[in-house]
Amino acid sequence: MDIVRMKNRKKIVTVTAYDYTMAALCDEGGADILLVGDSAGMVMLGYKSTIPVSMDEMCMFTGAVSRARRHALVVADLPFSSYNISRQEAIRNSGRLIQCGADAVKLEGGMTQAETIRSIVDAGIPVMGHIGIQPQSAEILDGYGIRGESWEEAESLQNDAYAIQDAGAFSVVLEKVAAPTAKKITDSINIPTIGIGSGVGCDGQVLVMQDMLGMHKNNLRFVKQYANLAEDIMGAINTYKEDVEKERFPSKEHSFGDDIKP
Ligand code: KIV
Repeated sequence: MDIVRMKNRKKIVTVTAYDYTMAALCDEGGADILLVGDSAGMVMLGYKSTIPVSMDEMCMFTGAVSRARRHALVVADLPFSSYNISRQEAIRNSGRLIQCGADAVKLEGGMTQAETIRSIVDAGIPVMGHIGIQPQSAEILDGYGIRGESWEEAESLQNDAYAIQDAGAFSVVLEKVAAPTAKKITDSINIPTIGIGSGVGCDGQVLVMQDMLGMHKNNLRFVKQYANLAEDIMGAINTYKEDVEKERFPSKEHSFGDDIKP
């Protein structure tokens, strides 16, 4: 896979995408990976967490993104409870995402998910791992604090990364892992690490599109905002509202048959 060959050569640029129009722009803009994250549940569907996201919803987002893709790799998240019940179910649900157009699937968990990753890979489906903060369990179990600051936690994350690699995954997301720990993990495994809030030492970076484009307010320290689309969009809607209310829109140039007398 090209993404694996990029390790130690070129940083891997990843952005989340959930719909056709934005995915086409991200692909044309040069993203290497379009991640159809289950963050879609929050930013697209208004859920409070990723927990309620269903396979049907992930399939719909994955289809839209894959129809827009020209160059990038499309990776789709396996949502909560779609890969933990049995290996067969994990393979079946991974296969569904591939049938919807994904090139690979992503699932959360380290050592405890190694067997599941191995089964999906053995079924011919590329898998991306995800350790550090795991949003599907953070809400219920262990919160959103930084991971890998203590020696014990760093060691445990390192073992998770080895387990994911040995299970046959082609890359792994490191979410909110202390930067020195993330760098150490990156240097110690052969598959690329994609960091979010995990410092510059990772092989690539990922951001949620709505965060990086400033489409909503967030105070996440690890997000850099590259645009202020919320302001631009609200400005455009306000101007449109004024134009409609004051009959400045539609003008003659946006109307038809102005010279006809009915
Ligand atoms: O769901 C998602 O968007 C993700 C990224 C933040 C890594 O898993």
